[in-house]
Amino acid sequence: MDFQSAKNFLSRHGQMHLLDYYEELTDEQRGILLNEIEKLNISVVENINSNAEERTGNLSPIPARSLDDIAINKKSYEEAGLKLLRENKVGAVLLAGGQGTRLGFDKPKGTFNIGITRKLSIFEQQMNNIKDVTSLAGRCFPLFIMTSDKNNGDTIAFFKENNYFGYPEDKIHFFIQDTEPACDFDGKIFLSEKHRIALSPNGNGGWYSSLISSGLDKVIRKEGIEWLNVYGVDNVLQRICDPAFLGATYLSGCACSSKVVKKTCAEEKVGVLCQQNGKPCIVEYYEMPAELASLRGGDGELVYRYGVILNYLFNVGALDRTLSNKLPYHLAKKAVKHIKDGKLVEPTQPNGYKFETLVVDMVKMMGSCLAYEVEREREFAPVKNKTGADSVESARALLIKNGVSL
Ligand code: UTP
Repeated sequence: MDFQSAKNFLSRHGQMHLLDYYEELTDEQRGILLNEIEKLNISVVENINSNAEERTGNLSPIPARSLDDIAINKKSYEEAGLKLLRENKVGAVLLAGGQGTRLGFDKPKGTFNIGITRKLSIFEQQMNNIKDVTSLAGRCFPLFIMTSDKNNGDTIAFFKENNYFGYPEDKIHFFIQDTEPACDFDGKIFLSEKHRIALSPNGNGGWYSSLISSGLDKVIRKEGIEWLNVYGVDNVLQRICDPAFLGATYLSGCACSSKVVKKTCAEEKVGVLCQQNGKPCIVEYYEMPAELASLRGGDGELVYRYGVILNYLFNVGALDRTLSNKLPYHLAKKAVKHIKDGKLVEPTQPNGYKFETLVVDMVKMMGSCLAYEVEREREFAPVKNKTGADSVESARALLIKNGVSL
């Protein structure tokens, strides 16, 4: 794109400020900027005016496989799950492309040391959890790790330095997720440098399309994988490819499933699995109407009580059938580094929006979802913040409670 075309394009979209420093740039920098403008998905900032209410109309609670149901059927679920694992029909996808801004750690979150007297990275802790399953099943499953362009190099280097935590290297596949521009609260796109647009990972919802665009679907087809267990890097108690969860999902006939925990209180910051117009859906905590979040049934329990913990199973055939569907963009209020008056500003409080598609929206597209309850004290120890709720401190306490020496 040449300068004049960029100018016309930006002025049509009210983004002329992206050329504020053009005069000061070298030829090479000008080329980089014009190229980024050409590739800009400008329509994404129009989402600023999208209405969350549309996503939360006609909600109803979802029935779940409760802890009691699961205890009764555990043996048959486990057998069915182990069979799938032994037939190599299962793979796992680790979502590790986030920026972990709340934790304020500038390396990939998985490299964070959760140990106290010894080194134990979040990645290592999760790989240890995987090994519990692989030793039970007697075989290793493929692990796909989604990174972002910002943390891909560091993530791969960390796995290498740590000898892939004893997991077969050829079973681990890294891929990079796509990006979208970030903007201020008025929709003005930020510059991260005078010649670069501020781009951020586009949320965890793009994992399947990014996996395909990186060519890794060939591995899925070659190995005959039918189920993918998608999980987040945040949770240090995450059980990955849990045989009982796999088996219960398979036997339910659902296209996907989600591990859920009972919310501790109406205000807890977790997405809630429920139904919209009879179809499964997950409503993020910041989009859930307060009167529904606090609604209690005759038994005194929250009606919308099942919080998701970013541990899902997706049927690969069902994923393929929904690939052409577009996921909606969510606005995430974040602290975005940017150039202002020629200088780099590094805010500590949210100053704008990043645009993210979310894995939770894929659940709706699947049409059917099994809600599978797990004990939060045994399976949910998120590391989101430095201190307080869902923090390094609370995750350490839960690890210790679960017998992990730190
Ligand atoms: P979060 O929603 O907690 O986002 O991610 P985050 O970027 O890691 O952290 P904050 O909000 O900036 O503090 C939940 C999971 O989704 C992954 C994260 O790595 C984490 O496992 N994720 C998030 C991605 O893989 N890509 C993204 O673009 C965003």
